[in-house]
Amino acid sequence: MGADPTSSIDVESIGEDVPLLEGIRTSCAVRRLKPDPVPRELIRKVCEAGTFAPSGGNRQPWTFVAVTDPQRRAWFAERYRKIFMPYIAPAVERAKAPDFPEAKRKIMNGAVYLAEHMHEVPVHLFVAGWKRRGDPQIQALFPAIENVLLACRAVGLGASLTTLQQAFQPELDAYLGLPADTPTCAMIPIGWPKVKHRRPARRSIDTCLHFETFEAK
Ligand SMILES: Cc1cc2nc3c(=O)[nH]c(=O)nc-3n(C[C@H](O)[C@H](O)[C@H](O)COP(=O)(O)O)c2cc1C
Repeated sequence: MGADPTSSIDVESIGEDVPLLEGIRTSCAVRRLKPDPVPRELIRKVCEAGTFAPSGGNRQPWTFVAVTDPQRRAWFAERYRKIFMPYIAPAVERAKAPDFPEAKRKIMNGAVYLAEHMHEVPVHLFVAGWKRRGDPQIQALFPAIENVLLACRAVGLGASLTTLQQAFQPELDAYLGLPADTPTCAMIPIGWPKVKHRRPARRSIDTCLHFETFEAK
C-alpha cells in the first residue's frame, strides 16, 4: 500500500485562508468524490464549524454521526439507490430530448453519479437533532448543515446534501443507533473532490431582491 496522501495535512491551518464571501460564492454540490479516506480530525474540524451556527435560544440541537465503515456505507447506499433511482427516472427520460437544458442535465448526471457511487463516498455525515415539544427542529439544523458545507469548501473537501433517505428515516435512525427524540434530517456525503470547486449557476440577485415592498419583476 502506498503512503496516505492525506497524512501530511495540517488540520489546524487548512482552509483558514479562504475569504468568507469568496468561499460562499464558490461553494457548490460536489458529488464526484474520490474513495480516499478523510482524516477524522478534518471531519471534526468541518463539524466544529457546524456548531458555530445559530439556533433558537442557542439550544444547539445538532448531533453528527460520521459513518466511514465500508459495510455501513454499503447498507446506506443500497437503500438510498432504491429511493433515488425511481425518483430521478422521469428526469432521465426528459433529459433524452435534445433541447433539455445542459445545466439541468449536469445536475442530474451528478446526482445519478453520487447515487451510483454512494458506497464509495468515504464519509456519510448524518445530521440529526433533538425534537422540541414533539416536533423535529429541522429549521434549527440547516444553518449548521450549511456551515459544514462551507467548511468543506474551505478545506478543499467535496460535499453536497441528500434528504431523499428521509423516506426510510425510521430504519436509518435505528441503524445509526439514534434515540427516537433525535431524528436525522439530512446527510452530507464528504470526500476529496474529483473535480474543482466552481461558481454554481444561480439567478441574478436582481431578480429576487426587493426593497420596501414586493414588486413583480
Ligand atoms: C433541502 C435540500 C435537499 C437536497 N436533497 C438532495 C438529495 O436527496 N439528493 C441529491 O443528490 N441532492 C440533494 N440536494 C442538493 C441539490 O440538488 C443541490 O444543492 C442543487 O442542485 C444545487 O447544486 P449546485 O450548488 O452545485 O448548483 C438537496 C439540497 C437541499 C438544499
